[in-house]
Amino acid sequence: MTNQVLPGIAALPMSEFVTRRKKFFAKMADNSVAFFNAAKEVTRSNDTEYAFCQNKTFYYLTGFNEPDAMLLLIKKSGCEQSILFSLPKDKMHEIWHGRRIGQEKACQHYQFDQCFTLEEQEELVAQYLAGMSQVYFAFDDEKLSAQIFTYLAQVRAKIRQGVKVPAHLTDASPIVDDLRLIKSHNEIELMRQVNFISGLAHQRAMQKTKAGLFEYQIENEILHEFARHGARYAAYATIVAGGDNANILHYTDNDESLVDNDLLLIDAGGELSGYAADITRTFPVSGKFTEPQKVLYQLVLDAKNQVLAAIKPGVTFAKLNDIANACLTKGLFDLGIITGDLAELIAERACKKYFIHGLGHWLGLDVHDVGDYHINDNKEQCREFAPGMVLTIEPGLYMPLDDMELAKQWRGIGIRIEDNIVVTQQGYENLTVNTPETIADIEALMEK
Ligand code: GLY
Ligand code: MN
Ligand code: MN
Repeated sequence: MTNQVLPGIAALPMSEFVTRRKKFFAKMADNSVAFFNAAKEVTRSNDTEYAFCQNKTFYYLTGFNEPDAMLLLIKKSGCEQSILFSLPKDKMHEIWHGRRIGQEKACQHYQFDQCFTLEEQEELVAQYLAGMSQVYFAFDDEKLSAQIFTYLAQVRAKIRQGVKVPAHLTDASPIVDDLRLIKSHNEIELMRQVNFISGLAHQRAMQKTKAGLFEYQIENEILHEFARHGARYAAYATIVAGGDNANILHYTDNDESLVDNDLLLIDAGGELSGYAADITRTFPVSGKFTEPQKVLYQLVLDAKNQVLAAIKPGVTFAKLNDIANACLTKGLFDLGIITGDLAELIAERACKKYFIHGLGHWLGLDVHDVGDYHINDNKEQCREFAPGMVLTIEPGLYMPLDDMELAKQWRGIGIRIEDNIVVTQQGYENLTVNTPETIADIEALMEK
């Protein structure tokens, strides 16, 4: 385990965004237009906003980080055009709220063919749509859908002048989601870096933890370490869950104090150039596992490692779930936590009683990244892994304090161990390389 931060935080080269647009163009029919909207700012209270987070698909195709913008991809008679509509330069607004790049510089920097202001949008979009056959947009974006129908109505109003109205509407999401699912070399390098930074934050959390501290104090040690290394934001709300709080899967209150004989579950990942890490570790507040904590922890770790060993192209989440189920169910059976016939217990996936969430998910610009998990509409056929896919593996066991069916020694223990994995030609690469996970490594680090 090395603690050297990788040199030079990578940002994606602009050519990467241009290549992505080219890949989307290649999927478009001729005489069609695709629409992608940027995110809007979100009010926190009265006149203050949350930190801005760009729409990730819009970011994927542009790298552009201002709110309210729109990207149009136009394919006409084989010719491709990328057009951005964005907020205008506005001196007074910029003095109060921050810089805007404006249309001229945006065009050069982001390599669009043309950039216009949002004021010019309405008239120009209707012109671009006239005579086209097909329109692509995200069907699940209600605001964008409403906008498109307004534009189409404007085109339709000119039908008597001989203007042709696009007749085919196509959901853009499955197309762009499939592109996002396979990561490039540059994306994987960014994800390697954000994993490494997040690993340092988990190490810091282990070193700073002691009974009596509040969970949010550890949360802030983590955020501090992310930012120290260039990951200014967390990719999702950090979970710092002492004792029984770990049995609340998305516990983010983080407002209780840590207790000596409890475990502490931390699910935390930074965001770097938009890319997420998603790492969970569970360790004892005191620095030493108790015996019951130790056996359950080792069981979850064994399950994770057995699952990892099976990852390679062609494998599916269904197959990995079988491995996790066999390991966890047998382990719980051996400990007397579940009883019955072992083969039957495995067949009925008896571990589900204590392993209450999925084994993993795609990871990328979103922590629960886009991309279908199945390849047919009835959701029966799992998608096979391919090189460049990035996913989490996160087995867990959750034994709530109020579960009176459990022997007392297990109650109040919640454990999850989560790593981030890239599928490679040969098998896999574990991005989560510097986050202690063995009992010996955790105890050694916490003793220092
Ligand atoms: N941090 C959310 C998850 O592990 O899926
Ligand atoms: Mn996860
Ligand atoms: Mn997680």
